[in-house]
Amino acid sequence: MDSERAQLVDNIRIAIANASTRDDVLRAAAELIDGFSDGYNWTGFYMMRDDGKLEVGPYVGPPTEHTVIELDRGICGAAASQRATVVVDNVLDDPRFLACSITTRSEIVVPLMDGNTVLGEIDIDSDKPKFFNGEDRIMLEAIAAEVVRRLKEIA
Ligand code: SME
Repeated sequence: MDSERAQLVDNIRIAIANASTRDDVLRAAAELIDGFSDGYNWTGFYMMRDDGKLEVGPYVGPPTEHTVIELDRGICGAAASQRATVVVDNVLDDPRFLACSITTRSEIVVPLMDGNTVLGEIDIDSDKPKFFNGEDRIMLEAIAAEVVRRLKEIA
């Protein structure tokens, strides 16, 4: 990971150590992630509910009409059901895509894994096509691990 990205992971670890509720942890992480790049145009969390659906959590960006997503729908549902990061370089070419904004062109969804269990996911949209590279993915997976560690501490 480059030093700028490693610094963001460190900053998030420090910020969430001072957050004591789930929503505060997620909000602090979403705000710091969003501030990392002008190309991150919607940055937030979807969290797994007891009924097995994803519900939107803290986010930075325009309001989304997709507040609850079933696992067989959307890029968000795909990442949660595959238990793996999904990167979509051009959302207009992906029939799974659920639009939150008509300007979105690429998306990354990184699950929050606790062992084999999906606690939720980080979702980022960009208005630029093919915006998310391997470095973003590695950084966001490291951030996801930090968030999961903190959520388990405060649970
Ligand atoms: N694009 C997502 C829906 C969430 S909004 O982008 C915030 C999807 O296809 O699942």
